[in-house]
Amino acid sequence: MNILILGSGGREHALAWAVMQNPKCDKLIIAPGNAGIAQIADCASLDIESGGAVVNFAEENAIDFVIVGPEAPLAAGVADRLRDAGVLVFGPSEAAAKLEASKSFTKEICDAANAPTAAYGHFSDAQAAKAHVRKHGAPTVVKADGLAAGKGVIIAMTEDEAIAAIDDMFGGAFGGAGAEVVIEEFMEGEEASLFVLVDGEDVLAIGSAQDHKRVGEGDTGPNTGGMGAYSPAPVLTTEIEARAMGEIVKPMMRVMADRGMPYQGVLYAGLMIKDGVPRLVEYNVRFGDPECQVLMMRLGAQALDLMQAVAEGRLSEAKVNWADDHAITVVLAANGYPEAYEKGTEIKGLDTLPEDSSNMVFHAGTKRDSGKVLAVGGRVLNVTARGATLPEARDRAYEMVDAIDWPEGFYRRDIGWRAFD
Ligand code: AMP
Ligand code: GLY
Repeated sequence: MNILILGSGGREHALAWAVMQNPKCDKLIIAPGNAGIAQIADCASLDIESGGAVVNFAEENAIDFVIVGPEAPLAAGVADRLRDAGVLVFGPSEAAAKLEASKSFTKEICDAANAPTAAYGHFSDAQAAKAHVRKHGAPTVVKADGLAAGKGVIIAMTEDEAIAAIDDMFGGAFGGAGAEVVIEEFMEGEEASLFVLVDGEDVLAIGSAQDHKRVGEGDTGPNTGGMGAYSPAPVLTTEIEARAMGEIVKPMMRVMADRGMPYQGVLYAGLMIKDGVPRLVEYNVRFGDPECQVLMMRLGAQALDLMQAVAEGRLSEAKVNWADDHAITVVLAANGYPEAYEKGTEIKGLDTLPEDSSNMVFHAGTKRDSGKVLAVGGRVLNVTARGATLPEARDRAYEMVDAIDWPEGFYRRDIGWRAFD
């Protein structure tokens, strides 16, 4: 099978690493890829948000199966163009990708499915949004409706903060994403993510994870794309997972199918858990980054069989072989991230590290230049380890981190802390 993976982050390195272990994989190309991916597979430059360009590339390279990593190509309809051209693809249609691309759309599907989530209002003008805040008070959550690269959510502890956030959003601070605003009840609890495969009809949970969004230790400081993650998430017990599937995921997927936009791909359900009850915070229509790194380390080669079963509508025949293991990933980022950071600094020590089924450094923002590995992004490396217990995985991951020589980078020393309390 000739496979094309779209994307260039640690998530796509982990997907490539897992897919390659499957003997079904004859040829693997990642577009555009990065320096770490280039060590294990071919990389190609391609405009991955152009459906036409991706279809042409797939046809020219005799690609049998396309796996879409990030949300932008999905929201741009790339999976639809591939399906129209008869190419097997893992990833939802543009219509179904609205579960990530529009918060008000997701809320409306929650209502239709009677799925537990935060109470909300949806507004296209500032006056009505402010009146809602004055009526319901703070804390509250103000969200730009559209895709805002993870930045369009303001947790307002006071009414004044909420009013200021509304002015910012309608004032264009998030571009088109903020033309409509959703205001939600603030939910307390512990967050965890559940990853579910969906083939339009059937659903299969494939694992849970928790990530650390804040840049600083103790979960402090500004939000980032994620500074580390671990799987499984102890807070997401079997009972809570069953509730989340039965009360949230399954009824919502049924509504999507009934409305003529069946969901196909991986659904990343962000849940807020309090007193044993899960409520939906949000969906993403892709694997999380860095959550994918820990999931792929635990799933290994079967990830390809599962994604193929999704694309071929055979999920009812598929099953996951769970190992009773734990994985953790620590993100190394460039000093300054998530604000301005330097590019082009050299990372040393990577060649001394083990690379096997329990230890991997997945690359995100890296480039190879005259034999050197250079940091060219904010989040740069994902040092990932698997073990029989979470402490074992963590200790090994930090041993690897300590062997990396990169003075211009930093990382959090406390990844997984909630699971160790
Ligand atoms: P989202 O982009 O919707 O995932 O929001 C980003 C983060 O904001 C989530 O991961 C939560 O930590 C937080 N958040 C979003 N909505 C709520 C809510 N209604 N109550 C509490 N926290 C929230
Ligand atoms: N790690 C969060 C995300 O991928 O959205």
